[in-house]
Amino acid sequence: MDLHADLILVERDDSVDLAFRADVLRGLAERQKAIPARWFYDLTGSELFEEITRLPEYYPTRVETGLLESHGAEIAARVGPHRAVVEFGSGSSVKTPLLLREINPAAYVPIDISGAFLRQSSQELAVKFPHLPIIPVEANFMRAVALPESVCHLDMLGFFPGSTIGNMVPRTAVDLLRSMRGTLGGASQLLIGIDRVKDLARLIAAYDDSQGVTARFNLNLLDRINRELDGDIPRSGFRHMACWNDIWSRIEMHLEALEDMVFTVAGQTFFMRQGETIHTENSHKYTPNQARLLLQAGGWTPTWQWTDAAEDFLIVLADASEFRSAP
Ligand code: AVI
Repeated sequence: MDLHADLILVERDDSVDLAFRADVLRGLAERQKAIPARWFYDLTGSELFEEITRLPEYYPTRVETGLLESHGAEIAARVGPHRAVVEFGSGSSVKTPLLLREINPAAYVPIDISGAFLRQSSQELAVKFPHLPIIPVEANFMRAVALPESVCHLDMLGFFPGSTIGNMVPRTAVDLLRSMRGTLGGASQLLIGIDRVKDLARLIAAYDDSQGVTARFNLNLLDRINRELDGDIPRSGFRHMACWNDIWSRIEMHLEALEDMVFTVAGQTFFMRQGETIHTENSHKYTPNQARLLLQAGGWTPTWQWTDAAEDFLIVLADASEFRSAP
């Protein structure tokens, strides 16, 4: 028996993310083909997303950062000092320092599933905030997370910027909010960024920009599948598409087949007709009323909100609600 060949086989298998393979194979076999948006973020995808946040058409990052800058003092007054800030996600290079600088926290706890991102962003923050205890937690924040002993006696402020909540269907968003409520405890607050419903042309432009960066971000998913799952999907046979779904109040991104095609992924064969799409992302947009209702459903009582003059984006501060039975 050739032991060496066996070893190589095992290494190859280990290098494939099994969850990625399962999601892609399941998603491509569905009637409306769909792949979860979290798989956008390989190295190239993460870099392209950074580029998106700087595009003139992509307002959310700019507007949310502006809100944190201009209302930082008021947010700090409403939150109060000496809380542990628990960020769901590994911390953005711009927004997190803005918040931490204003609110004088007792500790900072970023939670992220990617240890590499966590370590990098924690190190960067430690340089900016040498006296702040930074305690990264490597975990999937979609489930309840056990916080480090050293912060358990503190009141918490959950921080969930970027309208990432919009990438979840409302049912999942409510599940996440409830799990955050469980993670953070009864005396906690949540500061969350939510993108608002607005003029359709502006929404479409934000997800189908003139430089084609969002198109590259979307199409990169095919490159990732081809590379990591031994696929032969013809990238040039697809176009990026962004459209508004009014029933769900969301922008959807799809990859549309430009011709009939057959391709294989991980040894399985798939067919697509011209015009058929792979659904790759949802980005739900909320009115302020809908946003407050979503928070209430998730166990949070909104106490204050900030928006910009153009009413593009919303930051909501909420208290953990007491659990009671209806009404
Ligand atoms: C990460 N997320 C909040 C972005 C959004 O706006 O839904 C992802 C994105 N997709 C295309 N452009 C930006």
